[in-house]
Amino acid sequence: MQSEFHQRQLAFGDLMLDNSVAIFTAAHEQTRSRDTEYRFRQDSDFFYLTGFTEPDAWLVIKKHENQVSSTLFCRPKDELAEIWHGRRLGATAAVERLAIDQAFELSELDEELPKLLNHGAAVYFVLQQDPQAEQQLHQALATLRQGSRHGWQAPNQIIDWRPMLHEMRLFKSSQEIELMRKAAQISVDGHIRAMQQCRPGMWEYQLEAEILHEFAMQGARDAAYSTIVGGGDNACILHYTENESPLRDGELVLIDAGAEFAGYAGDITRTFPVNGKFTPEQAAIYQLVLDAHDAALAALGPGKSIKQANDIVLQIMVSGLVKLGIMQGDVAELIEQQAYKAFYMHGLSHWIGLDVHDVGDYKSSDRSRTLEPGMAITVEPGLYISKSAEVDAKWQGIGVRIEDDVVITTEGIENLTAAVPKTIADIEALMAKTNN
Ligand code: GLY
Ligand code: MN
Ligand code: MN
Repeated sequence: MQSEFHQRQLAFGDLMLDNSVAIFTAAHEQTRSRDTEYRFRQDSDFFYLTGFTEPDAWLVIKKHENQVSSTLFCRPKDELAEIWHGRRLGATAAVERLAIDQAFELSELDEELPKLLNHGAAVYFVLQQDPQAEQQLHQALATLRQGSRHGWQAPNQIIDWRPMLHEMRLFKSSQEIELMRKAAQISVDGHIRAMQQCRPGMWEYQLEAEILHEFAMQGARDAAYSTIVGGGDNACILHYTENESPLRDGELVLIDAGAEFAGYAGDITRTFPVNGKFTPEQAAIYQLVLDAHDAALAALGPGKSIKQANDIVLQIMVSGLVKLGIMQGDVAELIEQQAYKAFYMHGLSHWIGLDVHDVGDYKSSDRSRTLEPGMAITVEPGLYISKSAEVDAKWQGIGVRIEDDVVITTEGIENLTAAVPKTIADIEALMAKTNN
């Protein structure tokens, strides 16, 4: 991957004004409780450009007379700190191991940053994101402004680099797609294990543990986001992560879980019966969501849009709900009035990549941006009929979402997560095999 990080720096440099400097800062460790920190996760933008996974570092990309070069500032080698807190790469090894032209210790920022910025036309930086870094930048700019009699000159504009970098991140390279396939495959196996291990009486967090176990055994130590295991009515809470209820016989369980592999996220949802057998009402709602999901997959591809697929999803789900007597009225009117939002209150798709909700401009709030090869999205229609919904009691407490991850190709789509059973027959068959 080393050369790809370098390629990305050069590609970003291509977008920069000549004689300018771009600054990117790493994430910082976050306290969990006294003397303990949350497990560190690198900032995705910083990782995308460097592959460097230590906290507190800076990357400076400089474009001078159309030549692009990179400078890293990182934590110093420190025997005592490393005995207590873990190994550090250090500046010397950073140049050898990372796609970086030169590296300094963080303590050298005061001296080196003004030199890098001197006579720059612009500095690319994100304001109000990292107060410490912002203060350091302002200090460097102040130093340059005070030095005009020495011929120093501060850049006079600060440009937000996010639109430039995030447009790059939106289009996945073949190496990135390979890593996403792996994140997806591990996520797939986590979901299959959950279907195999699920029994009435288990706790939701115990099913979560089965999934995380599978992820770790396959090389993904972290989940890409907090795992959702929602039994019964809990499935109707979209970001339910408490996972602390028992899984009851006769109820469905919704699992939204994805592995993070080499920084890339999987994001899969499956919904299945805790006891392995759908009731007629559960099957009716499930089949409706599955029909919508399949139709959405068929409608996606280059030249298409998320909005087009979502319009098809709405048509299928609203007519289905009317047919089942859960909604009443004219389908077109119900869609026009957004009456479906009582049961389907989120979007169909989001970008996915280094972040599960990945960066990239949707161009419009209805997600009508034309899809192009290399973009990666989720497809996740759902219906949620909570215990408090004003419908026949037999429908209450049924929440269903079915979510896959797809990459747009030149011909259509590649579904990275198709291997988790999705049809009622396939789910029941898999669960029957392991439930005896
Ligand atoms: N796991 C969050 C989502 O599906 O968007
Ligand atoms: Mn999800
Ligand atoms: Mn998702």
